Amino acid sequence: MIPETFRTMIVHSASETDHERRIAEKFIRDLPAGDVLIQVVYSSLNYKDALSATGNRGVTRTYPHTPGIDAAGIVAESSHPAFLPGEPVLVTGYDLGMNTSGGFGQYVRVPADWVVKLPENLSLKESMIYGTAGFTASLSVQKIVEHGLTPDSGDILVTGATGGVGSLAVSILSKIGYSVTAATGKTDQNDFLRNIGAKAVISRADIVDDSKRPLLKARWAGVVDTVGGNILASALKSTFQRAAVTCCGNVASPTFAATVYPFILRGITLYGIDSASTPMPIRQKIWRKIAGEWKISHLDSLHTEIPLEGLEHAIERMLSGGQHGRVIVRLGD
Ligand SMILES: NC(=O)c1ccc[n+]([C@@H]2O[C@H](COP(=O)([O-])OP(=O)(O)OC[C@H]3O[C@@H](n4cnc5c(N)ncnc54)[C@H](OP(=O)(O)O)[C@@H]3O)[C@@H](O)[C@H]2O)c1
Repeated sequence: MIPETFRTMIVHSASETDHERRIAEKFIRDLPAGDVLIQVVYSSLNYKDALSATGNRGVTRTYPHTPGIDAAGIVAESSHPAFLPGEPVLVTGYDLGMNTSGGFGQYVRVPADWVVKLPENLSLKESMIYGTAGFTASLSVQKIVEHGLTPDSGDILVTGATGGVGSLAVSILSKIGYSVTAATGKTDQNDFLRNIGAKAVISRADIVDDSKRPLLKARWAGVVDTVGGNILASALKSTFQRAAVTCCGNVASPTFAATVYPFILRGITLYGIDSASTPMPIRQKIWRKIAGEWKISHLDSLHTEIPLEGLEHAIERMLSGGQHGRVIVRLGD
């Protein structure tokens, strides 16, 4: 039986500096139109959610709003033949949680072409331990693999390594045999990073170069960068010939200063990663890999589970750069 109302986080924001979050009831009839109504069992916290939850107009234009770019749950109602009530499904990205009421509520209603059937060998909970962060890490790993880099090519650097995308990138790369160097700002997280598969752990400060030199000593066969800014700029200068560098995030800075030299003297490639609009066939293929040959065994040590009320603290920690692994939000049984 579908209830009339459901529990949800609602963010009120009059301006970028003026916002308030509440846990409240919302009517199902007020959800946007869509083919599939999903009863959300788990969601997860991503950096974009923390921005939406603090009134960031670059992510969410209009408030009041329910963030949550990830949702995994059970189809409650469907007007599309591909999805039947009772089926387990997941949604990540597209407009969910941005300007469409998101996964920090017990129900979402979305177009059928945003919905992925839960792959075999993955529970709803596991799918949200990955969530957008794990999906993005997997897209980055896929670029490294497609570029032709093999475990014999050399070390892969992962930046922002204790964060959601970073910790899953370290885990997946090491699961499939790559030697991973994890760069972190958290000097006390050496054991965590080694336990999830990093061969070496280095301090963020060790890979930031403030000189104006166009190239640095070659260290990396590939780079999964999750932070942007000077860390990305420095990584671009520190690769072997024909390296692959992926770029997905901006927590350090959305801008970076670069020259053409790494590109024209070392033939490197910089890949942009955009998980939200990944076409459905690639999306399904990546989720099958996540649940199959790339599935990692230490998901338990990578996440913390919280109720809706726990988001308040988790959002603040994420915005201060303190995130460690993944946070999943339990919304139902
Ligand atoms: N393009 C896409 O499709 C896509 C998808 C998902 C996420 N993202 C982006 O990827 C980034 C990471 O997302 P996430 O969910 O992994 O976030 P997260 O869990 O908050 O992790 C970010 C990590 O970056 C490091 N960090 C934080 N502040 C930093 C600073 N000022 N300078 C350098 N490093 C800093 C920290 O790791 P250490 O302390 O270990 O260094 C932190 O744990 C965000 O910018 C997010 O918007 C993009």
